[in-house]
Amino acid sequence: MSALLEVETLDVTYRRGGERRAVDRTTVSIDAGETVALVGESGSGKTAIALALLRLLPSNARIGPSSHVRFDGADLLALDAGAMRALRGRRIAMVFQEPATALNPRMRVAEQVAEVALAHGERSAATARARALAMLDQVGLDDLPRTARAYPHELSGGQRQRAMIAMALLLDPALVIADEPTSALDVTVQAQVLELLRERQRASGMALLLVTHDLAIVAGTCGRTMVMHDGRIVEDAPTARLFAAPADPHSAALVRAVARSERA
Ligand SMILES: Nc1ncnc2c1ncn2[C@@H]1O[C@H](COP(=O)(O)OP(=O)(O)O)[C@@H](O)[C@H]1O
Ligand SMILES: [Mg+2]
Repeated sequence: MSALLEVETLDVTYRRGGERRAVDRTTVSIDAGETVALVGESGSGKTAIALALLRLLPSNARIGPSSHVRFDGADLLALDAGAMRALRGRRIAMVFQEPATALNPRMRVAEQVAEVALAHGERSAATARARALAMLDQVGLDDLPRTARAYPHELSGGQRQRAMIAMALLLDPALVIADEPTSALDVTVQAQVLELLRERQRASGMALLLVTHDLAIVAGTCGRTMVMHDGRIVEDAPTARLFAAPADPHSAALVRAVARSERA
C-alpha cells in the first residue's frame, strides 16, 4: 500500500537579497489516518514544507526541480491551479497559527464556514449554513448560535481557533496540516484545542500533520515525530522512542528542553 502523502527530495529556496535554502532534499511520508508531528526550532523550515505541499509559498520562493509531492495518487506539483484549488480545503486542509489573520474580519463566523462548502460546489445556501452550524457545534464552539453570528474580533483566541478548525474539517479532508495551531493560545486553551484535533482525528480517520516548535505538545498527540533542523529532517521516529532515546543531537536538545520546562 502506498502512503497518503509522499514528499521526495523537496527543496524550497527563498530569494530575498541572496538565496536561502529553507528546505533541503527533504523526504516525508504520511499514511492515511496517521498523526505525525513536524518539530524544530523557529526558522528550521517547517512552514516552508507545509506551504510547499499546498502550493501556497510566497512568490519569492522556488521549489527545486528534483522535488516530488504525491498525494493520494496525484502529482501535486504538476496539478494546474484550478485542480489545486479544488483539492485544497476539500482533500487537504490547513489550520494556521493566527486565525485572526486567516479569518475574514468582515464576515460572520458561520458565514465563513458555510463559504467553504459553497466554494466547493454546495449549491444550497441553507444546506451550507446548516453544515457550518453542525460543524461549529462539533468543534465545541460555545454559546451557539450567538458566537456563530459574531465577527472574528468578537471572539476569544480559542474560539477563533475552533472556528478555523471547523473550516478545515468541514469537507472531511483526508489530511489536515496544522501549523502551530496553539502557539498563540494560553496553556489551558492549547490543551483543549489539541484534544479537539485528536478527537476529530479519531472520529473522522483523517491524517494529521502537526507542525510545532514545541515538542512538549507532541507527546500526547502524535504517534510519530519528525525533527527538523536547518532545512533537513534529522530524525523521524515513533514519538515514545524519540523521547526515551533521541538519536540526533538536535532531538536530544529538544527533549532536554521539555524535561527542563516540566521541572520548572
Ligand atoms: N517569505 C520569506 N522570504 C524569505 N525568507 C523566508 C520567508 N519565509 C521564511 N523564510 C526563511 O526560510 C527559513 C525557514 O522558515 P520557516 O519555514 O518559516 O521556518 P519555521 O516554520 O520552522 O519557523 C527561515 O530562514 C526564514 O527566515
Ligand atoms: Mg513556522
